[in-house]
Amino acid sequence: MDKLEKLRNDLFMCDEVIIDMLRMRCQIVQELINYKQENGIPTVQPQEEDRKKKRFNEKLADYEYRKSIMGVYDNILYHSKRIQSHELFGLNIFLIGFMGVGKSTISAALKETFAMDVVEMDEIIAKRNGMSISEIFEFHGEEYFRNEETNLLKECQNKKNQIISCGGGVAMRQINVDEMRKSGKIVLLTASPDTILERVSSSHDRPLLENNKTIEHITSLMEAREPAYQNAADIVINTDGKSAYEICEEIIAKIQPFREEAQAVQAAASVH
Ligand code: S3P
Repeated sequence: MDKLEKLRNDLFMCDEVIIDMLRMRCQIVQELINYKQENGIPTVQPQEEDRKKKRFNEKLADYEYRKSIMGVYDNILYHSKRIQSHELFGLNIFLIGFMGVGKSTISAALKETFAMDVVEMDEIIAKRNGMSISEIFEFHGEEYFRNEETNLLKECQNKKNQIISCGGGVAMRQINVDEMRKSGKIVLLTASPDTILERVSSSHDRPLLENNKTIEHITSLMEAREPAYQNAADIVINTDGKSAYEICEEIIAKIQPFREEAQAVQAAASVH
């Protein structure tokens, strides 16, 4: 065997070991997440990632390709998060609720923890229209905006395992609720009017609250919407005084019965 062939062979063997190890790693990740679930151990532990990265950075401190290897490792961690999200969710999660309940914050936390794809509805609609939500209301009217929301929800059916951060008015249309139910579960986040007022006070892109940011207005709009929110929700979570990670943990725990139900339906379908 000439030298070139031997080197190629060595490289191939090396890759085989890497592939086998990665496969083993995926399995451990699956087992780990299931173990945490079964034993009520928190799934969201962001400090673990930092700890591991620090350790490997130290281990490779003097190696000239440290950055390359850490880049690969970042990728491994990214996919590991996605595997965890498939184990925990496996369906779309629609976050609904009044303005300022924390839908965007929770979506961002789930994205960071599980590398899930996030559909930030307001942001996408604003971008597509090349203007802010307030401008859309002003130039096209609310009805136009509501239709944009419905169309975007229909598009969400094409993918699974996404977090959809809905605009506060999404659950008001029954057709939207029907669309959401087709591909996932609906999580209603709630908060007291005081918390809402505090959270929306510095924002100016909520036309329904602009110039009327008072407890009275927020309370009456919330009360008017409450029945539609409750009717849409599969899961309800109050966010007052809780951290984003606590809320994520609560979503994960409450989604599990639905996840198991969906798996059982899938398993039954594959038998027939
Ligand atoms: C609305 C909520 C807003 C935005 C629009 C209308 C509503 O989204 O979609 O201003 O009707 O409650 P957020 O709930 O993300 O603020």
